[in-house]
Amino acid sequence: MTGSDVRYSPLIDRIHSDGADGWEVHAKAMAAVARGEEAIVLSVGDPDFDTPAPIVEHAVVALRAGDTHYSNIPGREHVRAAVAETMAAQTGLDLSSRNVIISAGTQGALLGASLCLLGAGDEVISLDPMYLTYEATLCVGGATMVRIGQPASTGFRPDVAAIGAAITKRTRAIAITTPNNPTGVVMTRGELDGIAALAMAHNLWVIADEVYGGLVFDGEHVSIASLPGMAERTVTVSSLSKSHAMTGWRIGWAVGPETLIDHMDALQLNVNYGVPGFIQEAAREALLTCDAESEAMRTTYRRRRDLAVDILSAAPGLSVLVPEAGMYVLADVSSLADSSRAFANDLFDATNVSVLDAGAFGEAAQGWVRIGFMTSDEELAEGCRRIVNFVNGL
Ligand SMILES: Cc1ncc(COP(=O)(O)O)c(C=O)c1O
Repeated sequence: MTGSDVRYSPLIDRIHSDGADGWEVHAKAMAAVARGEEAIVLSVGDPDFDTPAPIVEHAVVALRAGDTHYSNIPGREHVRAAVAETMAAQTGLDLSSRNVIISAGTQGALLGASLCLLGAGDEVISLDPMYLTYEATLCVGGATMVRIGQPASTGFRPDVAAIGAAITKRTRAIAITTPNNPTGVVMTRGELDGIAALAMAHNLWVIADEVYGGLVFDGEHVSIASLPGMAERTVTVSSLSKSHAMTGWRIGWAVGPETLIDHMDALQLNVNYGVPGFIQEAAREALLTCDAESEAMRTTYRRRRDLAVDILSAAPGLSVLVPEAGMYVLADVSSLADSSRAFANDLFDATNVSVLDAGAFGEAAQGWVRIGFMTSDEELAEGCRRIVNFVNGL
């Protein structure tokens, strides 16, 4: 049944983004695994760790105690307060629960911020390469995305002058991701100062995705909201998905000015009626008591980064960008194949190792592939060795 003569709303055109095509090799790898075939999946964005036991236990206890009813829409007071305290401790900002809404992951917070800040006729400046959902999420309300390249030639650093030159009367917001997916670049205080100055000079919002903020290896993670004058015009979105291996729990948050949070609350009433209470309780436990578990994961990712970079660097013709944060390493394959997509496909067909075409994240990353390290050291090392052998054989 296709329903071919029925009509859909105009937003349908805006929610189907090309980014999804980038996952075809990953889908192929998962299908191979499902058939029981051997494959090394380095294309995934999901931590291989289990959620730490105290967090799971907390959810189970809450469920057994009957925490299965509607929860309050913007999140429970003490859970919002835990997020406010955590971010206040990291940034020095004066925050309360009124500055926080609990959402269905960073993704839910991004969509809420987008719908409350951006409308038809608005422009949002976004830095390319960017996470695959951004175009659809930021443009669903009718805004236009203006992509500014973070060029490979600069190590995918933000180009503050180019951002400034792209600002028009229609610009409403600048969306940034630090640390970045897929590049692993952590913006410096100086870069953020430059973006903050533009936002203040042109009365813009900044939408700051900091979901990898807990996984920094080199340099410091700076929240742009903490820079002078920025808290009132910044919405910071994040979650426990990466830092605490909680992708499937679907819990995150937005932190911003109270009025924006009130608007996002009104929207959330109509979207999902709030995040389940037992999940909120587990997330609070994670925030308050699981720093050591999160730190252990960061240390492991750092070790795997070094391992992957070490092995991949042995392949002549494959240049690797050492990520400052996150769970992925980018490799330049532009001199090895017609396109990074073709490289990823050929690599999988020849070696059963799946990596992602980073070109799916934006034009600036065409010619690069993203290699994830959400697998054991042994499997990661074997995957990287197969990549090196494949490249050597080209
Ligand atoms: C940059 C970025 N933002 C947001 C998300 C979505 O995260 P969450 O699970 O918190 O919704 C991801 C997931 O990979 C991501 O890479």
